[in-house]
Formats: sequence, structure tokens, C-alpha cells
Amino acid sequence: MGYSENILEEILSRIDIVELISSYIPLKRAGRNFKALCPFHQEKTPSFMVSPQKQIYHCFGCQSGGNAFNFLMRYEHIEFKEAVEILAKKAGVVLEEKKPSSQESYLSYYKINETVADFYHNLLNSSCGKTALNYLKNRKIKEQTIKLLKIGFAPDQTDALIQNLRQKNYSVAILEKLGLVLLKEGGGYSDRFRNRVILPIFDVKMRILGFGGRILESSSKATLAKYINSPQTPIYTKGNHLYGLNFAKDNIIKNDTVIVVEGYFDFITPFQEGLNNIVASLGTALTIEQARAIKRYTHNVVMIYDADNAGQLATLRSLDIFLEQDMEVKIASLPSGFDPDLYVRTYGIESFKNLANSAQNLFDYKLKILRSMHDEHTVEGKSRIAYELLTTIKKIPHPVTQANYIKKLSEELDIKEDALFLEFKKINNPASIRINPVVTTKPKSDIHPTEKMLIQLMLEEEEIIKKLKDIISPQDFVSEKTAKIVSLLFEWVNQGKKIMVNNLLNYFPQEDILPFVCELSFSPNLDETQKETMLNDCIQRLKERKIKVLRENLQKEIEIAQNKGDKQRLNSLMQEFCQLTDFLKKR
Ligand code: CTP
Ligand code: MN
Repeated sequence: MGYSENILEEILSRIDIVELISSYIPLKRAGRNFKALCPFHQEKTPSFMVSPQKQIYHCFGCQSGGNAFNFLMRYEHIEFKEAVEILAKKAGVVLEEKKPSSQESYLSYYKINETVADFYHNLLNSSCGKTALNYLKNRKIKEQTIKLLKIGFAPDQTDALIQNLRQKNYSVAILEKLGLVLLKEGGGYSDRFRNRVILPIFDVKMRILGFGGRILESSSKATLAKYINSPQTPIYTKGNHLYGLNFAKDNIIKNDTVIVVEGYFDFITPFQEGLNNIVASLGTALTIEQARAIKRYTHNVVMIYDADNAGQLATLRSLDIFLEQDMEVKIASLPSGFDPDLYVRTYGIESFKNLANSAQNLFDYKLKILRSMHDEHTVEGKSRIAYELLTTIKKIPHPVTQANYIKKLSEELDIKEDALFLEFKKINNPASIRINPVVTTKPKSDIHPTEKMLIQLMLEEEEIIKKLKDIISPQDFVSEKTAKIVSLLFEWVNQGKKIMVNNLLNYFPQEDILPFVCELSFSPNLDETQKETMLNDCIQRLKERKIKVLRENLQKEIEIAQNKGDKQRLNSLMQEFCQLTDFLKKR
């Protein structure tokens, strides 16, 4: 399927991006770069830039960017493979497709994941899995559940999986594609999942798409994230799937309702107690793909919220997706400090079912939350509440239902219906924007400024990469994307390979990283005299932030332990917490 990175780099080295792009649109010189009216969105003043030095383009208006392959794909609406073929021909490079080895097909991806799941599952039941098995026993997970969900254990070794699969003749390259291994800073690979309980993520056809790994509660390594998950791979995209849907789908149909919870164990505990129409979103905000996946089985959704989350309007807003999909969504909130897993273990499954049955519809629930956030007796507060709910109502695809809700809103807030209608008309329906492909919205960058700055520094100066290599590790980066960039940069420097942005982009076929890297590459160079200080600041902040994230996770766990009254666990958590705090102070 794919081409080797070397071939791609060879092609790029023979193609001039300025020449390529100017064969499609007129380019004008602007200092070191070229400028044009962006071909990908409507504009009157040029914000589309091409860099002959870096061999990349970027539009500051619509945030599209990339190398020659990316431009051709976007402009001609073609796939990566086709763009490579066209440019290879142009460049006079003979394409040797990698042997379509038996390992390189989707079928085999699933098969490898299956093998991996078996490997981890068997280890859980072997002597090295004892602590993990105990951990699961403590969480009251039954043997039959472990079997059904194929729960496993990844041992505390650098390369247990790599070694095992090597014996079965699987290459590390394919394990990397499946997100099962990580590049080490010093070169070579290590297992991604280590000393963790492994939870395979199935699709509705029972194929294994990826994995989640939970740290053992007893583990004292406070510097590790509670969960790690498979990254984006050819067969897994975070947010596209629902954990447990394969086991629950028949019961969802039978009950014509699905209960949606957040975490792995929030699914597992109720499920094994007999609540079978449940799925987990594996993250807070629901995605459109997840809503569509549910819609195939039912139109009725009950969301169970941790009380701590309920205040977060953003999360609530994400539920509007269901309205757009013409589905019914209700919400039940848990007492503070509880999640579904803990709730069921404390009060039993019947009590949990009652809670789900008493869920409020989205409109009423949102109104309740908004009333607690804004003062309904002030003009300002009232209109904030009204506006927020009108936006939600806007998503309902039936005018009559919309009118009914507006009437209800008018009664609840004591605002004239006419006034509400006027306001309602002014609101743009974002759903209609999504249908129109010409309008591009800026992708939200979830990358922290510190990480961004460090990458910029590294891309500007190879010396900085060499220096950082010994001070920080890719794992210090919270964002998976930046971590991968850094690990590549380190590896290239180790190999003595020249760092070129356009080549770097070949490793990120997912579009979302392109604008990030390209925008950075077009930023004005950093002030030489400031660089040293900036660098040191960034390193410090990077490390501190990592610890902060860890502390936040710990805090959550401390709260839960407090509520459970689990003194022993509370003590050990507090100890970890203090260690982290000390560490922060010393810096
Ligand atoms: N999650 C994640 N990475 C993290 C934390 C959370 O992917 N570092 C996801 C997991 O899917 C997790 C869900 O978000 O199941 C909910 O997180 P949280 O409430 O923190 O965890 P719990 O599910 O309660 O985990 P546990 O009960 O095992 O402590
Ligand atoms: Mn939990």
C-alpha cells in the first residue's frame, strides 16, 4: 500500500513546490516567500503563502497547509497514493511499491490486534499477571467478564510484546502502525503499554480496533497517566467508536434505549450486573460519529453524568448533536464524587436503573444548569439563558417541535414569545454550515503554547534539537502529536539526517497536524538574543505542566478515595501528591 519514506523524500527533493503551485494559480513574490489568493477559500486579500526554502505552503485564512503532496491532494481532490504517483512521474522517480506483504492489509491489522489481545489476556492469567488480576478482583470484576471483554495485562517490561510478536514473524513497523509500540529517544522501539490492565476496544463486528491501558492502582509511579489509549491508526480513530457497543447492541434494540457513560469501568460494572444496553464514550464530549453509531440501534439516549461534569456547559452542548440527528436525549446526574462504576458498587444496579429512569430531557436539564449559572432575575442573566437554549432548540429538525419549545421557554423565563422568535431567527444553524464544503472553519488546536514554542525552536535550529535530546523526552509532551514530532526530530538528529519540514509532513497523513506545523514554519524567526531564555523557560514549563496534569488526575482519585472512605488508598495517594508538590517547589 504505502511507499517508503525514502522514496517520498526523493520525490519531494526533485519537485519545486513554487513551480508546482504556480502551474495552478498565479503566485507573487513577497520577500522570501510567495503569496496568492487562497484557492481553498474565498478571499480578497492574499493569505496563502508558499515557501521556496521550506517547500511548504500555508494559508493563514483557512488554515490549510502542507507539502507538495498535500497541495495536490487538496487541489485535485485525490488520495495520497495518486498524488505520489503523479509527482513521481513528474520527478522521474520510479515507484517501487512496497511488496504488498501479507502483513499490510486491513484484515491482517485486525488479526494482529487479536493476537496482541490474546497475548495480554493470557498474561493476565499467568503468574506475572497476579497483581493485575488482584486489582480487577478488588474492583469486583468477575472472571466471566474478564473473559468476555478479553481483558489482559501488559507486563512491566520494555518490549515483552515486541519480542513475542517477533517470534511470530510480525515486524515492528506494523506494530507501530497499530500504535502498539513507541519510538525511543535513543532509537529503537518499546511497547506502548507497560504494567497496565489492557482493555481491547471492539467494533460492532467484534474486531479489535485498539486498546486502552489502565495503570494498576497499587502502582507507585505517580508520573504515569491513569489511562493510555491506542493513538490514531489505520483502523482506529478516537471518538469514532463506543466501548461495549458490540456487546450491548442487541439489548439496545430490545430496550429501544441506550445508556451512555464515560469510562471503561463505568461500562463494565453495570454491564456485568445485568444492565446490558450500555456503552461508554471513552471521553466526555460525544462525537457525531458516535451519535450515528447509536442511531442505527435506537433513537433514545440516556446520558449519565458525573455531577462534577454537569456544570460544564461545553460538555452539555456536545449533546445537541443528538438533536441534530433527530434523536431523543435525556440526562441523569450522579451524586457528587460518584461515577457509574462506583455508584453501582455502592448502591446496587437497581438503584442505578432507577436513576437512569428518572433522567430529564435535555431542555429541562440544560435549563436547570443554566439557572444555577446565571441570575434569572437580571436582564443579562435571562437573555444568556434564553440564548443558550435557543441555540439548542435551533438544532431540532422539526419546526413544530421548535415552536413548542420556544413556547415553553417563553413561559419558563417569562419572555414574550415574539421576542424569542426574533432572537431565534438571528441564530445561525451551524449544522447547515457543516453541509456546505466550501466553508472551512479553523481547526481548534489542542496543542499547548509551550509545546508549540519548543517545536518552533527545534524547527529553527538543529543545534537546539541536539541539546534538548539529552534534557527532555518525547513523553514530556502531553499532546500525542507533538510527542511524535519530537521523537522523529530526535531520531533524525541521531541518524545525522537533515531536518526538513516538508519531509516531516509525510509522517502525518492525518490533516490536523499539517496546519500546526506549517503555521509555525511561516512564523517570523524568534529573536536570537531571547532564544536561550525562551528555551529554558519552555523546558521548565513543559515539565511543570506534565506534573500538573498528573496532580489533577491524582486529585480526582483522592476525592473518590475520600468518598469511599478508603483510608489506606487515600494515604498512598496523598503521599504521591506530596511528592509531586515537593518536586514542583524544588524547581
Ligand atoms: N481517560 C483517558 N485518559 C486519561 C483519563 C481518562 O483516556 N488519562 C478516559 C478513559 O476512557 C476513562 C474515561 O476517560 O475511562 C473516564 O476517565 P475517569 O473518570 O478519569 O476514569 P474512570 O473511568 O473513572 O477510571 P477508573 O474508574 O479506572 O479510575
Ligand atoms: Mn471510575
